[in-house]
Amino acid sequence: MQILTNPHALRQWHTEQHRAGLRIGVVPTMGALHEGHLQLVDQIRPHADRVVVTIFVNPLQFGPNEDFGRYPRQFPTDCALCEARGVDAVYHPDVPGMYPDGFQTHVEVEQVSQRWCGASRPGHFRGVATVVLKLLNQTGADVAIFGQKDWQQLQVIRQMCRDLDHPAEILGAPIVREPDGLAMSSRNVYLSAEQRSNALAISKGLWHLQQQVASTARAPAELQAELLATIAASGGQPEYVGLVQAESLEPLDDFSVAGRALVAARYGATRLIDNVELPVRDVQAKP
Ligand code: PAF
Repeated sequence: MQILTNPHALRQWHTEQHRAGLRIGVVPTMGALHEGHLQLVDQIRPHADRVVVTIFVNPLQFGPNEDFGRYPRQFPTDCALCEARGVDAVYHPDVPGMYPDGFQTHVEVEQVSQRWCGASRPGHFRGVATVVLKLLNQTGADVAIFGQKDWQQLQVIRQMCRDLDHPAEILGAPIVREPDGLAMSSRNVYLSAEQRSNALAISKGLWHLQQQVASTARAPAELQAELLATIAASGGQPEYVGLVQAESLEPLDDFSVAGRALVAARYGATRLIDNVELPVRDVQAKP
């Protein structure tokens, strides 16, 4: 497995691969790899001849009071995990390599970034879109994969690639969960045992909501309020519960189109996100 730390070495590497007619698959990460990331590696493999994992804690996507400084970093462990999973190259640039002095170009994906995480984390998706475009360009990505846990991020990246004519194919991979249902996240290590157990209210609440959409006529606003109350009763501080159109992320008026339920909530200082697909209801059907 190659470990590359600067964009020039990476360019040389991907140029050689492309000259040999090979297709490059990229798994962008911020490190602190868990089974969810490693399943992204497995899932991209049938779509690519060479798999690159990028490990870069991107300062541009953290707000001033967020956890950039204390975000978990474990590069040697991450490399060992990648090697064991058969990754071909790890790209691990440093901050000045990624954003040299005088850096001044950013990518703003307007509408789809506005609500939900975009509203509570101003500038977050600008930072994500900017770094992801750079990573796609630097790695020469033919295909890249992102977890559906960050559902809004996936929509932002797809919109960016469409709008800016980036040729990389963007794949979304299903959420990987712990056996008890908690969505895997590098931030789960921050949770105390009690917070972790309380936080199961998120996944349980989302599945209950999904089942209510499928089997009752309850309206989006009522189900949204119920899940907000469930999370608050479990000791969490809900940031939002959004019942949204799956791609535009505009709020749903009813369940007649493909939808998604999105949640962000804090347990102690730890911010967690999760989401589920919503069934489409036949709103014309008479009871
Ligand atoms: O999802 C993440 O880990 C990050 O937002 C990403 C896509 C690697 C960009 O820094």
